[in-house]
Amino acid sequence: KVVAVIMVGGPTKGTRFRPLSFNVPKPLFPLAGQPMIHHPISACKRIPNLAQIYLIGFYEEREFALYVSSISSEMKLPVRYLKEEKPHGSAGGFHCFRDAIMEDNPSHIFLLNCDVCCSFPLPAMLDAHKRYGGMGTMLVIKVSPESASQFGELVADPVTNELLHYTEKPETFVSDLINCGVYVFTPDIFRAIQNVSNNREDRANLRRVSSFEALQFPTRTLPTDFVRLDQDILSPLAGKKQLYTYQTMDFWQQIKTPGISLKCSELYLAQFRSTSPYLLASGDGKKNATIVGDVYIHPSAKVHPTAKIGPNVSVSANVRVGAGVRLISCIILDDVEIKENAIVIHSIIGWKSSIGRWSRVQAEGDYIAKLGITILGEAVTVEDEAVVINSIVLPNKTLNVSVQDEIIL
Ligand code: GDD
Repeated sequence: KVVAVIMVGGPTKGTRFRPLSFNVPKPLFPLAGQPMIHHPISACKRIPNLAQIYLIGFYEEREFALYVSSISSEMKLPVRYLKEEKPHGSAGGFHCFRDAIMEDNPSHIFLLNCDVCCSFPLPAMLDAHKRYGGMGTMLVIKVSPESASQFGELVADPVTNELLHYTEKPETFVSDLINCGVYVFTPDIFRAIQNVSNNREDRANLRRVSSFEALQFPTRTLPTDFVRLDQDILSPLAGKKQLYTYQTMDFWQQIKTPGISLKCSELYLAQFRSTSPYLLASGDGKKNATIVGDVYIHPSAKVHPTAKIGPNVSVSANVRVGAGVRLISCIILDDVEIKENAIVIHSIIGWKSSIGRWSRVQAEGDYIAKLGITILGEAVTVEDEAVVINSIVLPNKTLNVSVQDEIIL
């Protein structure tokens, strides 16, 4: 049997995702109309003999309760949320729930970061992992040398694919091959994590008896049960014939900011063409709105037939889109109203917001720049004919004048 674990973090993580993480935990923010973690979860469906999926985090249980019960019945597979009392790090959190994870006596365990967007080639990774015969196999990808330092950089053997060297977010360039945050392990991984905590405990005890040691390592005071997968496990085990790499040639993005989430929504919508074409809207401008490119529209949304929508648009539940509205490259969250002839381009419109008649909400569409897309928080009102360009607007604001390149607090 196989089980999958998704590390979802907690409210103190994901702060770069504000103001969109104010009312929904980041892992549940919708990309292509589905919660962020829905994409890895549905990729898990293709893993043979998958017994369970666990979500591990330090959010309150109730924040995930609804999603977990609906996805369990949709997948016909138990999906459980396990809450850590405090953050234990990416490997420590996983280790906390060793007994639950080992319940089904799995031969292999997938471990996925919640905040990556990719095609999740999990069955192919598992096959490669079995061929390599190591303890773990990680998904890796080549990125531009300029962006590599935001990730774990690594060197792999070109023939055997063994992980030879690993450095987490190095200051000087090591390699343009990086860690995607998607792994498959044998249960031996738990022993490796346990060893890190044991060693740390030994050192802490030593420090207590030896003031010389305390002077030598004054900053090494991580709690013994706080273990980071990258620094504490991957780096020391590289080059020991235990860890291997599987390189993806497909798309991959890390989802740390709202700007990038708009890009990821686009990537997932494009993927729907082959995986779930029934989720993509179609329209001809007669009975339904005109649809351009890849668009998702929730069945409860009401879209006027004279509206024109796409490409890269996702429209969530209970949204109302008026006559003559134009939407391009945007995420429209639940209960938003967009009134007649308004235009929204390269923007994310927060829950329950209202966009006035003939108004424009837009940005240049630079996904990486701080103000490269416009973001409206929850319940923002843009009055008729107002123009909002390259701006971030915090929840509950009313805009009756036009703004550009501003953060409205
Ligand atoms: N449950 C739980 N508890 N989850 C955690 C904790 C914790 O204490 N700490 C982190 N996580 C989760 C995060 O939600 C995320 O899904 C994953 O673990 C990794 O988070 P970080 O440890 O903050 O690392 P990162 O996202 O900056 O970078 C990691 O992922 C990159 C790929 O996206 C590293 O492994 C990089 O090397 C890698 O390139």
